[in-house]
Amino acid sequence: MQLIFNQSLKPYNTFGFDIYARSFAMAYTEQDILDSVDASHELNLPLKVLGGGSNLLIRKDMEALILKMEIDGITSSELPSGDVLVRAGGGCDWEKLINYAADKKLWGIENLTMIPGKVGSAPIQNIGAYGVEIKDVFHSLRAFDLQTGRFNEMTAGECRFGYRDSLFKHEGRERYIITEVTIRLTKRPSPSIRYEQVEGTLKRKGIQSPNPIDIVQVIREIRRSKLPEIHEVGSAGSFFKNPVLYGAEAKRFTVENPQAPVYLINDVMSKVAAGWLIEQCGWKGFKRGEAGVWPLQALVLVNYGKATGDEIIALADEIITSVHKKFGVTLEPEVNFW
Ligand code: EPU
Repeated sequence: MQLIFNQSLKPYNTFGFDIYARSFAMAYTEQDILDSVDASHELNLPLKVLGGGSNLLIRKDMEALILKMEIDGITSSELPSGDVLVRAGGGCDWEKLINYAADKKLWGIENLTMIPGKVGSAPIQNIGAYGVEIKDVFHSLRAFDLQTGRFNEMTAGECRFGYRDSLFKHEGRERYIITEVTIRLTKRPSPSIRYEQVEGTLKRKGIQSPNPIDIVQVIREIRRSKLPEIHEVGSAGSFFKNPVLYGAEAKRFTVENPQAPVYLINDVMSKVAAGWLIEQCGWKGFKRGEAGVWPLQALVLVNYGKATGDEIIALADEIITSVHKKFGVTLEPEVNFW
């Protein structure tokens, strides 16, 4: 494992903030993880793990050893049921796994194409899009436990998945380093095209029995039409979660705002589209200095060049305040802050 000192993290966070790390290393193997734990003790610096840096807002230079996960590789094995277990390294690009599954005509994650980041980050916030979340196909993961100094296998139940949420955002925060994720995919055609836009685009293209590659292509087209290309404009995808409203609050909201996009989760919980709330407050396309709200999707905050993390946070705070004032609903960030 090679240690680098005073490394810029600009290439390693999709907001593109030019922040420095006191110490930096890449983990290509599990041994590199053990070595970096030793190095962090020797240097007396906290160890911070970085995946694709695509759901992260870094505010200031990091007095830490930043370990970038690069454990790669994908393997698969077929079960007697015909389902296929696909195992991928935590540092494997998520899109590489999407392509692997689509090429083999395996169903389950095709709706999750073009979500930037690494395989090992996907369970942390239970990534989701177009009606599918990773928890729907999750089998298990392997993680290094910094508290016990051991590698463990963890099941879905142990990961405690919720909407953009898991154990790794609570008690498991900064405790586990995810080195491998196993998902269960199927050869049985099982498209999940409940989303109007997905269904509509397939229809428009005249595709009646899509295969996973068709779905991947359709979703790429939809995402490209709304979301900034992370290589061109700094962002972390959705900045806020879609707020969940309960019982009477949900009722009040829908009565007062009959035109709002509200999705029923169950009898007592509904999710409101945060992008809509933000747009209604007039923020869509707003720009101050080089920080802004993406003109095509108000849920995405962007760095047009030299904005700082603090400027993005100041903008996020103003958005939270104005949405609360107009709708009585509290937005919560989806991105992690360092
Ligand atoms: N909307 C507006 N104005 C906007 C944005 C959205 O009115 O500026 C409305 C849309 O018209 C639509 C509704 O809000 O009726 C929902 O919008 P959209 O389908 O674009 O999805 P979203 O709820 O904004 C979520 C995820 C995305 C994911 C999409 C597609 C969260 C926080 N975000 O966005 O995930 O790609 O659904 O399923 O759950 C991410 O997590 O980084 C991310 C991009």
